[in-house]
Amino acid sequence: MRLYVWDPVVRIFHWSLALGFAALAVFIDPEGKLHVQLGYAIVVLVLLRLVWGLVGTRHARFSDFPPSLSAAMGQLSDIATGRAGNHVGHTPLGALMIYNLLVTMLLIGLTGYLMLTPRFFGSEPLYEAHGILVTWAEISVLIHIAAVFYESARSGINLPLAMLSGYKSRKDRNGG
Ligand code: HEM
Ligand code: HEM
Repeated sequence: MRLYVWDPVVRIFHWSLALGFAALAVFIDPEGKLHVQLGYAIVVLVLLRLVWGLVGTRHARFSDFPPSLSAAMGQLSDIATGRAGNHVGHTPLGALMIYNLLVTMLLIGLTGYLMLTPRFFGSEPLYEAHGILVTWAEISVLIHIAAVFYESARSGINLPLAMLSGYKSRKDRNGG
């Protein structure tokens, strides 16, 4: 079984965001010019993804993975009882994580921008907020990656590979 799910916009967005965020959070000097430039690039990426969520291909659209607590609870109970899920695009728990990551990236960008405006220049609370949001995003990313590997093992579908190739594929029990 082989299904085309992630269009190139979703895939390029995903890996650019992942690399950009990791670089900013871990390697790049926060006091340098590159920090602000790459930070804004991430904000632009997320804004483009928001537009693509409205007009993009089927599984890229927000309507394909609406934020829903009850669907997320249903997925948790599927996991607890060992039932296989039936999701081609993002799962309900994955959807909640995605909205969390997108909103957090925008708030990091907003606090970073405000810190550099004359009105808030040198504001300690904004600096703190920027740092706390980054820590929240880092924790979220770790949970995101752990969940992707867990769900890959549970479903038998290599999800990281699907985010690279665009295709979700699963070996059928009869070897097909
Ligand atoms: C800084 C690191 C990362 C960030 C900020 C991040 C963020 C995201 C976001 C926003 C999405 C939603 C994609 C969309 O619909 O546009 C997503 C999905 C996904 N990410 Fe990541 N990601 C990161 C790292 C990773 C890594 C390292 C892997 C692989 C090991 C990974 C695997 C996936 C997969 C497989 C999906 C699709 C999940 C599904 O099937 O529903 N991500 N990620
Ligand atoms: C996803 C994007 C971003 C990440 C991961 C990030 C990460 C960080 C981190 C880890 C720090 C150090 C905070 C601390 O030590 O507690 C920092 C500081 C800072 N960030 Fe960002 N940032 C991002 C986006 C931005 C943007 C868009 C701007 C500005 C437009 C910005 C402006 C700043 C400034 C002015 C500082 C303070 C630097 C100093 O110590 O003088 N950041 N950021």
